[in-house]
Amino acid sequence: MRLLVAGGAGFIGSNFVHHMIKFHPEDTVVNYDLLTYAGNLENLKDIEDHPTYHFVHGDIRNRELLEYVFDQFDIDTVVNFAAESHVDRSITEPDLFVKSNVLGTQNLLDVAKSKQVTKYLQISTDEVYGSLGADGFFTETTPLAPNSPYSASKASADLMVRAYYETYGMNINITRCSNNYGPYHFPEKLIPLVITNALEDKELPVYGDGQNIRDWLYVEDHCAAIDLVLHKGKPGEVYNVGGHNEKRNIDIVELIVDTLGKSCDLIKHVSDRPGHDRRYAIDPTKIETELGWKPQYTFETAIKKTIQWYLDYEDWWRKIKSGEYMDYYKKQYGSKSYVK
Ligand code: NAD
Ligand code: DAU
Repeated sequence: MRLLVAGGAGFIGSNFVHHMIKFHPEDTVVNYDLLTYAGNLENLKDIEDHPTYHFVHGDIRNRELLEYVFDQFDIDTVVNFAAESHVDRSITEPDLFVKSNVLGTQNLLDVAKSKQVTKYLQISTDEVYGSLGADGFFTETTPLAPNSPYSASKASADLMVRAYYETYGMNINITRCSNNYGPYHFPEKLIPLVITNALEDKELPVYGDGQNIRDWLYVEDHCAAIDLVLHKGKPGEVYNVGGHNEKRNIDIVELIVDTLGKSCDLIKHVSDRPGHDRRYAIDPTKIETELGWKPQYTFETAIKKTIQWYLDYEDWWRKIKSGEYMDYYKKQYGSKSYVK
């Protein structure tokens, strides 16, 4: 396989590049990434000289460069992770999300079609389904009902991918995964933000009442699911990915505080995220029964492993949490009021 990984310098993309180099050393992996604030080549330092790995600095909206790269590496397979991925940022800068996530996906799809790739896999999210009440699960046939500019842009991209299957007969798949956690997770997202703030004895901001529920999956389990869909996914199919692991935000925050031996006084309930989805929960029956996927990590093991990673890789997150990151942090949290 000669694989283009778009967005391979971000959190999940870099874990996936590591996964491919480890489990498919015969494949060529071309990481094509714009290196936005979320892209970080430090994530790939250990494999940068690996003979089957290549990095290209580029935007998925740049048709000319993409065409050159597809030809240069004779690309036959595409996995698209490239996106603006943070819900809070989509609330303040929705246009960026339309540009990269919708227009970028359409451009990448179009180049992939013209180069006649054998498979295009779009990495999507459970957020396209909207929010659940106390009961029920998202299945692949749950209607799309995105609530944030981020999820609306991801749902739009999914529909475009579907259209390329229906109209042009491209061999596409879409995976919709729940919340990931693990190494290289950018510290603006809940779990790495709380771990690193706690290590710095800083306040731990919990939006609203902290009762919102997310369904957490260790990133390596997500990568294994993507690998499986890439190799065995049936043309045109959507696969939900999740590990039956629903947790309230406040319970995650308290667990991290406890594990690090910090005080619960650090926890501050702050004003809520506008349009905050209440509950996500994935029904992964389809990928489990049709492709034989099963998560390998329990939450109890993997959250400890993740916390230990942030202890071991302090240089990695301290470098990020300076300069530009602090400007974002002040803008995002400086104006939030305490609610409890
Ligand atoms: P991330 O923000 O950590 O990484 C995104 C990467 O995409 C960065 O390296 C960035 O530089 C790159 N990128 C952004 N715009 C680009 C463009 N126009 N051209 C080329 N590269 C560009 O995101 P992540 O958390 O790793 O998520 C990866 C994908 O998985 C996203 O599509 C996201 O919607 C999806 N997803 C994420 C989660 C999660 O919990 N993080 C869960 C389900 C699905
Ligand atoms: O469900 C999959 C999605 O998970 C992905 O598509 C997104 O790319 C990814 O960012 C993630 O979205 P969330 O909005 O669920 O993740 P986040 O880490 O931003 O927030 C998790 C929960 O924690 C959410 O209910 C909001 C809350 N939260 C978040 C932050 C950053 C807080 O209470 N305080 C915070 O400071």
